[in-house]
Amino acid sequence: MDTDLAARVQESDVVLLDGGEGTSVVVHLHGATALSWKCGGREILFLSKQAVLDSSKAIRGGIPLVFPQFGPWTCGPQHGFARNKRWSVDSQPQMENGTVKCSLALTDDEDTRKVWNYQFKLVYTLELTTSSLSTRLTVHNTGGESFTFTTLMHSYFLTPDISTTSVRGLKGLTYTDKVQDGKDFQEDRDDVTIPENYDRVYQKCPSTVTMDCSSHTVSVNLSNFTDVVVWNPWSEKAKTMSDFGNEEYKTMVCVEAGSVSSPVEIAAGQQLSFQQTLKVHAKL
Ligand code: BG6
Repeated sequence: MDTDLAARVQESDVVLLDGGEGTSVVVHLHGATALSWKCGGREILFLSKQAVLDSSKAIRGGIPLVFPQFGPWTCGPQHGFARNKRWSVDSQPQMENGTVKCSLALTDDEDTRKVWNYQFKLVYTLELTTSSLSTRLTVHNTGGESFTFTTLMHSYFLTPDISTTSVRGLKGLTYTDKVQDGKDFQEDRDDVTIPENYDRVYQKCPSTVTMDCSSHTVSVNLSNFTDVVVWNPWSEKAKTMSDFGNEEYKTMVCVEAGSVSSPVEIAAGQQLSFQQTLKVHAKL
C-alpha cells in the first residue's frame, strides 16, 4: 500500500487486493469503500486529503456505496446507511488466473432495522485485473416481504485538471439537474465538460460512459444500472464541506453508476446484482 495512505488508516480496517506490478486496490471496511485503485502505478481514484478515515463518517472519496437510498431520506442519513456501516470480509483476496477477487458483506441489524425495517444481505465483490476493476453489489432480500431501494456506486475519479476533463456517452440523454431545482433537460454534447457546480442524474444510460482526462480515460461499463450521476461541488460548495479541501474540486469528478431515478423492487427471497466495470486506457 502507498505509504501516505498506510499512515492514514489502521491495518485492521482495510483489505488489500494486490495484483502486483503497481496494481492494487485498498478497501476500507467502513462502507466497503474502495479508497485507492492503482493501475500500473497510476492512482485512478480521488480521495480527499481531508477524508475522515476513522469510521466516524462516510468517506469522502474512493467508491462509497449508496444503499438503500440515494440522496436525502426521511428515514435516515443521506445516501442511506451502507456507506456508514462496518462490512465483514466474506472472502479474503485471492488471485485466480490473473484476477484478484474479494467479497465483503453487510446484513441488517438492529440499527438498520430501526430506520428501515427490512431483512437483507449485501454482498460486494471486487475483481481486479491489470487494467480493470469490477465491483458488483448483490442485494439479497432475506425477509418475508418485498422492498424497494435505490443504489449507486459513488466513484470519485482523480484527474490532473478538471478544466480538461469530460464525460462521454451522455449525448441525447435526459438528465435531472439537481442544481436547477430538479428540472429535466436533454444533454446535447458529446463531451460533457464540468465548468461549475454539477449535480446531474442522467437517465436510461447506455452500457458505457467514459471519463476522459489529459493523462488517461476510464470507461465505466454498467450492468443492470440505469443511471449515471455526474457530480462536482465546485468552489463555493467545497468551502462548506469539512472533509473536502477548498481547491480539491479541481482534481476530481464523480461519475456514479446507479439505479436511482426510479426505485428497484425486490421480492421476498430474491436477489439482484448491479455491476460496474472500470477500465483504464493510458494516454501518457
Ligand atoms: C451525489 C449527489 O451523488 O453525492 C449530490 O447527487 C451530493 O447531491 C453528493 O451532494 C455528495 O453527497 P454527500 O452526502 O457524500 O456529501
